[in-house]
Amino acid sequence: MPYKIERMRLEDVPEVVAVDRRCFSTPWPADAYRREVTHPERNLYIVLRRIGEGPLTQPDPKGGGFLTNILPFLKEGEAPNTEPIVGYAGLWIVNDEAHVTTIAVLPEVRRQGLGELLLLTLMEHARAKGAQWVTLEARVSNTGAHALYRKYTFKDAGYRRRYYSDDGEDALVMWSDRVDTLEFARKLEELRSQLQARLDGSLLGVSV
Ligand SMILES: CC(C)(COP(=O)(O)OP(=O)(O)OC[C@H]1O[C@@H](n2cnc3c(N)ncnc32)[C@H](O)[C@@H]1OP(=O)(O)O)[C@@H](O)C(=O)NCCC(=O)NCCS
Repeated sequence: MPYKIERMRLEDVPEVVAVDRRCFSTPWPADAYRREVTHPERNLYIVLRRIGEGPLTQPDPKGGGFLTNILPFLKEGEAPNTEPIVGYAGLWIVNDEAHVTTIAVLPEVRRQGLGELLLLTLMEHARAKGAQWVTLEARVSNTGAHALYRKYTFKDAGYRRRYYSDDGEDALVMWSDRVDTLEFARKLEELRSQLQARLDGSLLGVSV
């Protein structure tokens, strides 16, 4: 199945919120995404679209506010959305540090390299924007996500106790190796070519 990655736009927010609700126990409110996408100078928010099939999830009507009335994919009788969002990710950049704020892929399309593709796109952007390191937090129980991050050089750096408001779980704080080095550039290149081989031509493009 072909996929493409694009910058998240304001009109994507209801669909992103719907994906978020299926991926996290403490999803972000739509306003948080709206705030982020209106400040592209200090962050990168991206969506992963699957081309050529109907939606895997319904846009969240509450997530859209007034926008829900004007979005084509919500109007009765219109053609179905043939490029549904199946994943998304976000990165903040503050001086020489970048922070992965969120990353998610719908359960139906996990373990195919798509989460990795989102992370790779964020890491390449962090480098392009002059960041020296990338950091993130993950639930201590989220060992699948830790494995993905370790593949991209992230290492455990400490804990934030009772970080998650729903159940009080601790967060593991992870930091990457320095990303502004030739060595890291080579590592990303190698990971990208392995991932492209794995995705086997199904990546149609990345435009961020
Ligand atoms: C974390 C997440 C984005 C990974 O997406 P994905 O598309 O399934 O990941 P990929 O297929 O790209 O995995 C790439 C590599 O990461 C590691 N990995 C990913 N998920 C894993 C899992 N559940 N168990 C073990 N390793 C895993 C593996 O090394 C994997 O490579 P492999 O498939 O060759 O073994 C996805 O599981 C998700 O959306 N989870 C819910 C939201 C979430 O927890 N986000 C992270 C918040 S910190």
